[in-house]
Amino acid sequence: MELTADERRMLEGQDGEGTALAMKILVGIGEAFRARRFAGISRAHVALSNQEGDLWFAEKLAAQGARCRVPPTVNPGFCLAVFPAEGMATPEETAMMQRTFQAYRTLGARLSFSCTPYLFDNIPRLGEIVAFSESSATPYVNSVWGARSNREAAQSALCAAVTGVTPEYGLLQAANRKATVVVEVDADLADDFAYQLLGWVLPKKIAHRIPAFVGIPGDVSPEALMNLGAQLNTSGAVPMYHIIGVTPEAPTLEAACQGQAPETTIRIRQGDLDAQLEELSASPGPIDFVMFGCPHFTIRQVERVAQRLRGQRLKTEMWILTSAYTLNLARRMGLQEAIEAAGGRIVADTCVDQPCWKHLAGKTGATDSPKCAYYCHRRDLRFVLRSLDGCVRAALKGRVE
Ligand code: F3S
Repeated sequence: MELTADERRMLEGQDGEGTALAMKILVGIGEAFRARRFAGISRAHVALSNQEGDLWFAEKLAAQGARCRVPPTVNPGFCLAVFPAEGMATPEETAMMQRTFQAYRTLGARLSFSCTPYLFDNIPRLGEIVAFSESSATPYVNSVWGARSNREAAQSALCAAVTGVTPEYGLLQAANRKATVVVEVDADLADDFAYQLLGWVLPKKIAHRIPAFVGIPGDVSPEALMNLGAQLNTSGAVPMYHIIGVTPEAPTLEAACQGQAPETTIRIRQGDLDAQLEELSASPGPIDFVMFGCPHFTIRQVERVAQRLRGQRLKTEMWILTSAYTLNLARRMGLQEAIEAAGGRIVADTCVDQPCWKHLAGKTGATDSPKCAYYCHRRDLRFVLRSLDGCVRAALKGRVE
């Protein structure tokens, strides 16, 4: 790769050992993808996991003196103000979360602890070059905001944040952002839940190609787009999509395909979504809990749950995971009070894939997120999948009909 004087200085260790390590890793990635040079980034998001490998790397960089030139927002672990005090995190688990907190603070990250920063505090503009990890974040910034990010790992995004650069390849280059498969959607998309199923089913049919959707309405909600990207990039590795007439690089199908003929056109019908739901979901019946917020719930989703709970009492646990920003709004608006009065909980800074959910192991819950069901499987949590409204009804009855 051709390096600028500043990049060479970093690689040679003049900004310290940690920055040199970050640069060495980025050069390795760049050479693997045949990038000729680096591009400067103006934003980053690091999908920290609060797990051993992630912590080892973050602490190593921090101990070697690395500091972020571009402060990244970061993913959630678990809330240190809630779970240890309620006996849901052991002293060892709490110590690990505290080390994660400290390592990223030392590195100079913005300790946002949310997986949806692209909705409120880390929003790039059209064409901005960024380094975003996190399965729902990368498709959102590429597709909805029209920024340019490769499908980063937490570690490569952190290296980009430390050095302020990322290898120029893949989705940073306009030619690689074209749609090569057209997806005609002929299904009921009235509820945002349909986009969860659409996102989960599609990679099986298109592999990792970039789709251009036809048939998605122009008033599609931010939550539906969040759901769509989260599932596309978890069920498969699809870090970008176009929606004709909706997303900024797709005013027309011709523009989305950059004037070239698509390789293929496929159609997704209602039957495909129904079959996917059947395959993903545990059988209806009694449930022990409901889990919402994978990705983190927006204020609109919190409002919807609170409205449906008013004056009623839940028969099961209900957890709503969200950002500190949204929790603060929910508190001010009386939504937290309404949810708690019904017996539910809303917490910030927390991910479904964390050790603080041990008490739910072996139990069956309901969720509106295939990603939640997928990640929690290894922690022995089982899920019936239903829409947001369906999950609320299930929590009020204690069962999914
Ligand atoms: Fe967010 Fe964790 Fe789900 S980071 S998207 S709650 S797996």
